[in-house]
Amino acid sequence: MQGEKIKELESRYVMQTYGRLPVVFVSGKGSCLTDVDGRRYLDFVSGLAVNALGHCHPAITAAIAEQAGRLVHTSNIYYTEPQVLVAEKLSSMSGLERVFFCNSGAEANEAAIKLARKRASVVLGEGRYEIITAFKSFHGRTMATLTATGQSKYQDGFQPLLEGFRHAVFNDLSSFISQAGDRTCAVMLEPVQGEGGIYAADAEFLQGLRRFCDDNSLLLIFDEVQSGLGRTGRNFAWQHYDVKPDIMTLAKALGGGLPIGAMLADEKAAGAFSPGDHASTFGGNPVACAAAIAFLRVLEEEDILGNVCRMSAYLQDGLLGLSRDLPDFVEGFRGVGLMLALELKVPSARAVVAESLKMGLLLNAIGDTTIRFLPPLNVTAAEIDEALDILKTAIQGHN
Ligand SMILES: Cc1ncc(COP(=O)(O)O)c(C=O)c1O
Repeated sequence: MQGEKIKELESRYVMQTYGRLPVVFVSGKGSCLTDVDGRRYLDFVSGLAVNALGHCHPAITAAIAEQAGRLVHTSNIYYTEPQVLVAEKLSSMSGLERVFFCNSGAEANEAAIKLARKRASVVLGEGRYEIITAFKSFHGRTMATLTATGQSKYQDGFQPLLEGFRHAVFNDLSSFISQAGDRTCAVMLEPVQGEGGIYAADAEFLQGLRRFCDDNSLLLIFDEVQSGLGRTGRNFAWQHYDVKPDIMTLAKALGGGLPIGAMLADEKAAGAFSPGDHASTFGGNPVACAAAIAFLRVLEEEDILGNVCRMSAYLQDGLLGLSRDLPDFVEGFRGVGLMLALELKVPSARAVVAESLKMGLLLNAIGDTTIRFLPPLNVTAAEIDEALDILKTAIQGHN
């Protein structure tokens, strides 16, 4: 089908919830995508951190094909092997003993919120249901996760929001402490805020929060939906800080492109859930889990974390060069691993992203002045060089 026809059908039949860029993709390989006209694009968005090993990694494609030919779905009223293998692997990687499977980041956070409330009702008694989250956070689009999200732009028009959430200033321990009271049961945050603009937590802040939660019998929940599974150069971002959560949520990269989410909890918290307390029809689907097993194997066996650290340093070097070459346009850069953001001095992030697209590079704008980089974790130095060349031309052309 022609690209224009696809766009026309989308505008007529698909619910208009996305502001899409004007490109129709038909295939992908490694760090590159191909559009309907056969043009190649270097992908530094990776499906918003989903395609962590690039497109159609052979190990993931083979695992999906093999599992799809064997067993696609049963139901969680039965046992299947791929699900328990992913659970075993995630548990040994994180030290969090139990895993609940779902299909997305928002669902993983919903599960975390429910577990925190259930555990509070069992352990702390009645009326302990409040969760403190951070301003500028993003936790998803369901009603509970939308309420947890500390950005009013996502909430406008959807009031009334749910009861039981309070917001505090990220990286400000006293702000979190001031929001806690006799209804609090947990604190939930992203160790590296993603949609909020790529802001990493300070070590002192996270360590202080851990102590505060321990002292007050609160659960510490880390949303690692975007930052988890290698994106920051460690399996989980909290490992940079040596601050282990009681509950952690994952999604995005886990399924190598297939939808899967996971909520992990330590044994003490997880024990609050009994059969029937929570469920998901598709959660832990055998095909998604087979893809996850393949992804986790490659993550470990192909030194992906080493590549993230090396390529992060290389990309940051390039961004530093860009800041020096274009001091009137570039404010600076920030982030961890391959979760980086370039801050512009002028509100041209969307125009720069649109111009880069025309030149065959996919980037993502967060707001008016921030450009986000989420390249595949196995990106090469040559691909980074190519991206930086295009980006420089795009910034020069749009300022
Ligand atoms: C940190 C974080 N949590 C939750 C979500 C929601 O994930 P999903 O879109 O899979 O529901 C996202 C999505 O961007 C995210 O970045």
